[in-house]
Amino acid sequence: MKVFINKRIPETGIKMLEDAGLEIIIPENGNLSQEEWLSYCKNTDTILNVGNHTFDHDFFDECPNVKAVALYSVGFDHVDIKAANQKGVPIGNTPDVLSNATSDVAFLLMQSVARRASYNFQKVKEGNWGDFDPLHALGQELYGKTLGIFGLGRIGFEMAKKSQKAFDMNIIYHNRHHNEEAERELNARYVSFDELIEQSDVLSVHANFIPEQKDLFNRSVFEKMRPDSIFINTARGGFHHQTDLYEALVSKQIWGAGLDVTNPEPMFKEDPILGLSNVCVLPHIGSATIEARNGMAKLAAENIIAFSKGEKMANCVNP
Ligand code: DGY
Repeated sequence: MKVFINKRIPETGIKMLEDAGLEIIIPENGNLSQEEWLSYCKNTDTILNVGNHTFDHDFFDECPNVKAVALYSVGFDHVDIKAANQKGVPIGNTPDVLSNATSDVAFLLMQSVARRASYNFQKVKEGNWGDFDPLHALGQELYGKTLGIFGLGRIGFEMAKKSQKAFDMNIIYHNRHHNEEAERELNARYVSFDELIEQSDVLSVHANFIPEQKDLFNRSVFEKMRPDSIFINTARGGFHHQTDLYEALVSKQIWGAGLDVTNPEPMFKEDPILGLSNVCVLPHIGSATIEARNGMAKLAAENIIAFSKGEKMANCVNP
């Protein structure tokens, strides 16, 4: 069975696939154009896919040989699950192994924005260290404040846990379902969406992205948030309307924003958000640790190997 891996992944995963006797195809150049990527996909049985290529009806029609896809990500918003189901193509993902790493980035952004790290680092780089000034570059402390989690799954839980441990933050959340573990262990309180946006000092987005929630965090939401609040998004850029966010930051409707995901992605370097002093932007590095990326390689390889043996993938997002 052929496995097409569009970009080199950690050796652990590759070795597992080799040991399982699978034929692996990895292009020399990992930055394939869409056409090149598609032509590889047309000639393979399974794909271990890195990145957010679209898997929709057109894809499955054009690549009828593809029998299974193992994503090298937990998110699967780039896959049309209905289309995959219609073609009977199982889609694997890599949950859990990146929850620590991604929640670490949310936590890092929260503190960076609260203590104005980007602004101050920029000053140092510009040779503008400045004198000690009792009134300048003041951040805010997070102790005892309210953290609102939108989407309290595995990553949201870890963000809530470390924020509570570090800063004794009160946790409120809005989710499709109640998270009993978080209510029991973190004393997290389920609230309506409106309560979430109105009561959060820090609002951190951790949900799985669905098209119906595109631009959910828009002007009317930012208007209802507290003027000293911080917006954090490490989930998907599609959740926030980037121009509305910019305006909310400029007009001080909210205090600051930390983004590991943007809309669009990659972000244009001319995006006016980058000119603001109350933001911290990272280039989608949530899972970028050695531990998480090794874990993702292992899970993705396990998914492919299970499929090759006629078994169900251990982490499969569709029936
Ligand atoms: C994920 O695993 O979904 C990360 O955001 C990388 O795409």
